[in-house]
Amino acid sequence: MSLMSSQVSEASANHQTRVYDSVFDMLPNADNPSPMVRLRKMCPSDQLTLFAKLEWLNPFGSVKDRAAWEMLSDLESQGEVGHGRGVVEPTSGNTGISLAAMARVRGHHVRTVVPNKVPLEKKLMLKIAGAELDVISDDLCPAPGLGDGSINLAKTHAKAQRDRYVMPNQYENQKNIEAHMRTTGPEIWRQTDGRITHLFVSLGTCGTVTGTGRYLREKNPDIRIYAVQPSEGHDVPGLRNVRQLEVSKLFDPSIITEILEIDYELAYRRALELFQTEGLRAGPSSGLIYEGARRIIEREPVGMGVMIFCDDMFKYASNMARHIPELAEGTEA
Ligand SMILES: Cc1ncc(COP(=O)(O)O)c(C=O)c1O
Repeated sequence: MSLMSSQVSEASANHQTRVYDSVFDMLPNADNPSPMVRLRKMCPSDQLTLFAKLEWLNPFGSVKDRAAWEMLSDLESQGEVGHGRGVVEPTSGNTGISLAAMARVRGHHVRTVVPNKVPLEKKLMLKIAGAELDVISDDLCPAPGLGDGSINLAKTHAKAQRDRYVMPNQYENQKNIEAHMRTTGPEIWRQTDGRITHLFVSLGTCGTVTGTGRYLREKNPDIRIYAVQPSEGHDVPGLRNVRQLEVSKLFDPSIITEILEIDYELAYRRALELFQTEGLRAGPSSGLIYEGARRIIEREPVGMGVMIFCDDMFKYASNMARHIPELAEGTEA
């Protein structure tokens, strides 16, 4: 049985009472958007309303629920998965967790290839979700062309074991972009009543920026789209510096107003501040996006901004302790 996103029955999903027939009915769309919360204390301008869109409240915990579902339901409807054929995917964690959880519920097996620098919490979550795990020595941001890299290893598995695996390939799959054109863009447009002036995002596969940006620009070509990237040598799982972007076929610079590079250590400091000041348990990529937004708003202080906060802090506790050593103090008897 295949279950396309468009076939998720609205009758079985009551978004008002929040009673659902299936976990898949909880996936976000314009009728069931992920929440947006206004920053009350950390917005640097009182002439700009700044919202964070909380993607960790999606059913499998991150923005990647959107792309994973779009890719998986497409593969199901093409008959590419099922009857013993599962999926294999290189991931820095979030795509793999969403894919593994969804695929297992749908009865498919999942193998994920993960760079060793991915936090332990994410590797464990992958296993808890039911994925088989290949941990390899690779950059945090896997690049193609390196014989042993995680992208190549996933491709090798898919080629060598065609009966057993298909690779959704989030770096090249147009469904990753379409997911955000179908859901994230329309959600934000509706949630801001068309008044959004600034969108702040990060860059990984670039599905989020390209899909959401394209939809919003079609609605209003004046919307300014800022992408925030960590400085080189960074340790922010899920993100890429533009010099690592050749891997993504989904990067479309024509819709980006400006790319800001931010010292990656600030990702951790700002994430801490967001939790302690605004009560938002945002992960490090959100901390980085916030810092980028703050700098732009100081320059452009009027309007309505939306930051896409991709996931939460729980998967990065060990990274936080490494980057902010005082957090580890007093945690042992
Ligand atoms: C924590 C986190 N933030 C941001 C992103 C970037 O999203 P995208 O891949 O759509 O560019 C990812 C992608 O994996 C991520 O895991």
